[in-house]
Amino acid sequence: MDRLKEIAKRRTFGIISHPDAGKTTLTEKLLLFGGAIQVAGAVKSNKIKKTATSDFMEIEKQRGISVATSVMGFEYKDLQINILDTPGHKDFAEDTYRTLTAVDSVIVVIDVAKGVEPQTERLVEVSRMRNTPIIVFVNKLDREGLDAFDLLDEIEQKLGLNACPLSWPIGMGQHFQGVYNIFEENLSLFKAHGKQRDDETVHIKDIQSPELDDLIGKRAAEEFRGEMETVQGVYPHFDKEMYINGRQSPVFFGSAVNNFGVKELLDCFIQIAPPPQARETEERMVKPEEPAFSGFVFKIHANMDPKHRDRIAFLRICSGEFRRNTNYFHVRKGKQLKFSNPTTFMASKKEIVEEAYPGDVVGLYDSGNFKIGDALTEGEILHFKGLPSFSPEQFRYVNNADPMKAKQLSKGLEQLMDEGVAQMFTKEDNGRKIVGTVGALQFDVIQFRLEHEYGAKCTYEPVNLYKACWVTSVKQGDMDDFVKRRKKDIARDQDGNLVYLAESAWALKTVRENHPEIDFHITTEQIN
Ligand code: G4P
Repeated sequence: MDRLKEIAKRRTFGIISHPDAGKTTLTEKLLLFGGAIQVAGAVKSNKIKKTATSDFMEIEKQRGISVATSVMGFEYKDLQINILDTPGHKDFAEDTYRTLTAVDSVIVVIDVAKGVEPQTERLVEVSRMRNTPIIVFVNKLDREGLDAFDLLDEIEQKLGLNACPLSWPIGMGQHFQGVYNIFEENLSLFKAHGKQRDDETVHIKDIQSPELDDLIGKRAAEEFRGEMETVQGVYPHFDKEMYINGRQSPVFFGSAVNNFGVKELLDCFIQIAPPPQARETEERMVKPEEPAFSGFVFKIHANMDPKHRDRIAFLRICSGEFRRNTNYFHVRKGKQLKFSNPTTFMASKKEIVEEAYPGDVVGLYDSGNFKIGDALTEGEILHFKGLPSFSPEQFRYVNNADPMKAKQLSKGLEQLMDEGVAQMFTKEDNGRKIVGTVGALQFDVIQFRLEHEYGAKCTYEPVNLYKACWVTSVKQGDMDDFVKRRKKDIARDQDGNLVYLAESAWALKTVRENHPEIDFHITTEQIN
């Protein structure tokens, strides 16, 4: 029974945004509300500063910081809230996609002045593919920005969300007076200070009340009433069921740095956000309430200290109960493993956990057993879905620059690929290795880490490729034929799957037309 209570208490979510919209600031304010940290500035930004876009030493430093902030947990009003951190830098977008498989809902932060930005579009698209419930927080209302209605239009058009404003701003920038909380029918007046106090919230059920005129002035009150009339006429009433199914997105307005509007967001979040949800596997749906334990690895972090070669695998618990020092079945390797130091992260503190429940994330110290997507169970064979590899966008040949260290190079590359830093393809015709990444930064990261963690050196050579497509066919004979005819464009990924390396969009189109018997896939989702 206790287990079911524990599950019902969990709220696991991620915050996503375009860099600089205020994700780190909002996270910190949420942690302050939850009492998980005492002072502002305690959560270091894990974003890679704009000035350091090509400085991978800086990335390494940030990587170290981001281990500590991978999962930030705190208790608030009897709930256990877990915030999973997502990297802000676009070159690490795949890490974010993977983290989004481990959450039950997301909060999207949008800068009121910039509106919907490209990275937000991509991340929301991934969340929508999985029907993840989404709440939008429009930030920086203390600055001049877009009109609230225009913003809602952008949210609907660019993000494809059905917006449902649950709070409404009164003024903006210098004239920002506060927000009206539609959900709770009260008004919070804005003061630029560190903490929003309960006694500064005025309960106003009827917005026609003259009290409103006294509080914000006659003109602003009239304008606000007009806007609310439009809101009520144009936008749907909040429907929790639709939100949970990802078909309606509540929108809040505020200013994270001023701690304004954050409490409304959090108080609404705990009322509406979903507890741990069922997860899809190739075999069946796994429900959190099931007694047998299961979980999957969605992120792997190498230890920053070269003296300790171990890594941390982050496991999302999906069902049952996870216990320390208990044998679990590693499905891919077909072997039993137990963990003596599973770690949980409460804000920046690390603690050993005795038990953990669905919705929780535990960090498992690993000496190379895990790879992203791996499942742990009590014996059942389960393959969790939703952790596909995407076709990389940049490719280079990788060469060994130190013949004495060939073993180290191959071990290092293999482990970095398991961590999901990049993907490696081995050409069928000559056995050469090609590394494919989403962003250019990863090439520097790989080179640096190979040298510092594995004592191996590599060089790169340009290769002109557009995409790597996984290929399948109904008849084995067709595939054998295709591979024979196209040998110079065929490679295998780390798992031995066949891949067609396309030099250009045109080449891909032509080969598709010429080989209707072959299916081309840009993610691994459809190949199994
Ligand atoms: P990110 O994680 O999404 O990349 O954004 P982050 O929270 O680091 O915020 C980016 C910048 O926006 C920071 O300023 C932060 O202080 C500011 N900011 C966040 N919320 C608000 C807000 O409500 N109003 C205003 N006016 N600014 C806000 P910075 O100058 O880049 O850094 P810092 O020196 O202030 O830390």
